[in-house]
Amino acid sequence: MEKQNIQVAIDGPASAGKSTVAKLVAKRFNYVYCDTGAMYRAITLKAMHNNVDLTDEATIVKMLKQTQISFTPGNPVQHVFVDDTEVTEAIRQPEITNSVSTVASLAGVRKELVNRQREIANQSNIVMDGRDIGTAVLPQAPVKIYLIASVSERAERRYKENIQKGINTPLAQLKKEIEIRDQKDSTRKVSPLTKAQDAVEVDTTSMSIDQVVDEITKIINQTIK
Ligand code: DC
Repeated sequence: MEKQNIQVAIDGPASAGKSTVAKLVAKRFNYVYCDTGAMYRAITLKAMHNNVDLTDEATIVKMLKQTQISFTPGNPVQHVFVDDTEVTEAIRQPEITNSVSTVASLAGVRKELVNRQREIANQSNIVMDGRDIGTAVLPQAPVKIYLIASVSERAERRYKENIQKGINTPLAQLKKEIEIRDQKDSTRKVSPLTKAQDAVEVDTTSMSIDQVVDEITKIINQTIK
């Protein structure tokens, strides 16, 4: 296969480690990294700031069409901008985390963001993570990974991340929130979270980040050699 415009799709449920791993894989191969969850979070944040009802699809889609969502490289995290405002941290706050599934279930929002994601993916070699990359955004991607981990393990990872950010949500509550988000993401009508038939499933429950990155590296190398 030609080593041109390689697309690596990484999907899976909340807190399965997708973005941490995707970013490292992108760095290893010198590909662009695109966090599609950040795009859903960004429009959720803007809608909430403007006191828009999160089920009001027409208003949110109109707002989204007039909104620029952009990324600039950064270490350890990419910077995310909504129009000219940096929202890197704001989009990770619990209010957004707990509301974003509602906005992500709006068909019009998905249509607009999927178009933008395809445009980004067509510009360069890319590692893109999300819920529907292998099934809907880039169904032709030569490399598709489906990352999973147990709910307890995911809640613990989120707990540790939160503590580092000074957020102190009890572990049991995080577990509950992850279960609710899984349920919403996998039962929504448009592009529910499902494993693409041709995706390779990687269960990260008892793997370190480095092990997961190595495993995905192996899969990419086998595909693009
Ligand atoms: O990966 P994350 O937690 O940042 O995702 C935020 C939300 O956006 C999550 O509820 C699922 C949704 N999402 C989606 O529906 N499709 C994507 N491609 C990425 C995220």
